[in-house]
Amino acid sequence: MTALNKLFNTQTQEIEISGIRVFDEKISSIEGLIKLTLGQPDFPTPQHVKDAGIAAINNNMSFYTGMAGELRLRTAMSNFMKTKYNVYYNPETEILTTVGATEALASALLTILNPGDKVLIPSPFFSLYEPLVILGRAEPIYIDTSENDFILSPNMIEQAMEEHGDRVKAVILNYPTNPTGVTWNQEEVIAIADTLKNYPNLFAISDEIYSELVYEGKHISLGEYLFDQTIVINGLSKSHAMTGWRLGFTLAPKAITQQMIKVHQYLVTSASSITQYAGIEALENGMDDALPMRAEYKKRRDYIYEIMSRLGFEIAKPNGAFYIFAKIPDAYTQNSFDFCYDLAVKAKIGFIPGVAFGKAGEGYIRLSYASSMDDIKEVMTRLETYMKTTKV
Ligand SMILES: Cc1ncc(COP(=O)(O)O)c(C=O)c1O
Repeated sequence: MTALNKLFNTQTQEIEISGIRVFDEKISSIEGLIKLTLGQPDFPTPQHVKDAGIAAINNNMSFYTGMAGELRLRTAMSNFMKTKYNVYYNPETEILTTVGATEALASALLTILNPGDKVLIPSPFFSLYEPLVILGRAEPIYIDTSENDFILSPNMIEQAMEEHGDRVKAVILNYPTNPTGVTWNQEEVIAIADTLKNYPNLFAISDEIYSELVYEGKHISLGEYLFDQTIVINGLSKSHAMTGWRLGFTLAPKAITQQMIKVHQYLVTSASSITQYAGIEALENGMDDALPMRAEYKKRRDYIYEIMSRLGFEIAKPNGAFYIFAKIPDAYTQNSFDFCYDLAVKAKIGFIPGVAFGKAGEGYIRLSYASSMDDIKEVMTRLETYMKTTKV
């Protein structure tokens, strides 16, 4: 392999395995560790959805579907978007069924990016965005939101546009946000949409995968206020506890969707047929399946927020998703990686260093409360002991 080692694709060599995974693996062998590291629901997929998947297997629904996915599924997704978020996408021409939100993001970015383009990424950000932009031969431009409680403001977009000009092809928005749990109310969404209208050559990729996990108020889709420029990304991973099934969607105007379907086709042909049938059941008969999970997440959020605030962590109160992004108290001088490693070794609790979500996340830790209340309680007890015994 020696000669070949020098011949890999430049961008592939540049990107790295996700910092979340790397840190998670690094601490996983510590005995007795309780981890609040990974962002996936701890609930099983609802029974009626599982049954639909099993029936699809037994009924031999094991063939390729159309590239965009089963029309019945796209129709159910269209109804879901209309009913929940008041925006209509034509199931025939404006919706693609993808292999999770992950492939939706990849297909969207590969469809629009040219070498040398720039993409705005509010930071801290979900770890997938940066490598996907780089693989698309484009340059990520980070907008630090930490000074504004992690809320992207119109002003920040304007400043970035002024600085980076017409090579900016897209902005990747994500709300509720991983890793901060912060989300936007209607006024904030409208303000962002109005700002982006001033840049008609800019695509907005709006990752709304946590749309069903908003605690106070309701989720507002960017598609409702900026239809023409927006590619909405969504899926059933979080709303229906279906991360392993791999089902996502792009929702975008026909002209964009027509281009994306080519990339999607050559990447994956289509999403799994069995998963799509389970998805039909989830969306036709389980539109509100997220509600009981959401109620449980909210209890956990309130519990953790109260304890960690008392222990001296500053937290922008999350109103969505299932993450707490907490500022390490000033008394601790380590960086986020060393702080989390120390917590893992000494207190046997696993959090993710904020720096795994970009430079703007340095000085913070992320924990996921998609974990049982028993584990969360034990982690908080251990954290409290650690903070008391290491106090400087
Ligand atoms: C913000 C965000 N977008 C996309 C994804 C990927 O979702 P999927 O499992 O549907 O690919 C995740 C998963 O954690 C996420 O947090």
